[in-house]
Amino acid sequence: MRLQDKVAIVTGGASGFGEGIAQRFAKEGARVVVADINGDGAEQVAQAIRDSGGGAVACRVDVASDADTRRMIETATGAFGQLDILVQNAAIGMKPTPLVEVDEEFFDRLFRINVKSCFLGVKHAVPVLRRQGRGGVILNTVSTAALAPRPGLAPYNSTKGALLTLSRTLALELAAENIRVNGICPVAGETAMLPDFLGDGDQEEALARFRATVPIGRLSTPTDVANAALFLASDEAEFLTGVMLEVDGGRCI
Ligand SMILES: NC(=O)c1ccc[n+]([C@@H]2O[C@H](COP(=O)([O-])OP(=O)(O)OC[C@H]3O[C@@H](n4cnc5c(N)ncnc54)[C@H](O)[C@@H]3O)[C@@H](O)[C@H]2O)c1
Repeated sequence: MRLQDKVAIVTGGASGFGEGIAQRFAKEGARVVVADINGDGAEQVAQAIRDSGGGAVACRVDVASDADTRRMIETATGAFGQLDILVQNAAIGMKPTPLVEVDEEFFDRLFRINVKSCFLGVKHAVPVLRRQGRGGVILNTVSTAALAPRPGLAPYNSTKGALLTLSRTLALELAAENIRVNGICPVAGETAMLPDFLGDGDQEEALARFRATVPIGRLSTPTDVANAALFLASDEAEFLTGVMLEVDGGRCI
């Protein structure tokens, strides 16, 4: 069990990559707070983990809200007495839109949910990790969008660029306290978010175009991302911080 005696929060845990991470962490012995704005979905994932003999609680949270984020951290310490791993994975996508046509309110919303959320998570989680005095792990779901941006997604790509720099800077700020901060950069993946990125045209055609940009020839899956997250969250990665791990079948080469 690679996460025995650890407690993890996974935001966006009701679906897609986050669900995969929550399930995988629980199988490796972690007790998990499944946090999502979709409270029913979070409860279903937590219940599925409990049904398989794992430990999990659900928490309905808007990661862009300071008060909700504080409550999410308190849910972990309240339910399980500690916090070791914070996976900041919740985000929203967008339909391809030329930047000049992007609505200002939507631009702000993207940054609130995809970037400010990570600031809030860190603000509330780090004091707990410090008090415990044994380090910790912060793992952010970034994206190949930060490294090899596709046109039409400028605001989304920029949120991931901001998250990458935030993560690397934070890695430096927290290294001396053994709080490791890493990121995962998946290529387009088979989740609920994907139809957004494919746009309103022929979905099969758009999918084939995306696949053609991945040398291994397929999109990423929640299992690919969960396996990478497990490694980075485990003690096997104890010397890794500031790493932005590409889970992308070679897309960014
Ligand atoms: N699917 C892809 O192509 C792809 C590629 C690279 C990176 N990513 C990133 O992976 C992460 C997970 O996305 P996914 O693909 O699994 O999509 P998804 O839509 O299946 O999961 C996202 C989850 O985040 C939750 N969420 C959205 N807004 C929230 C909020 N304000 N507060 C709390 N929860 C909220 C949703 O309810 C959902 O359960 C995101 O950070 C996304 O940007 C996705």
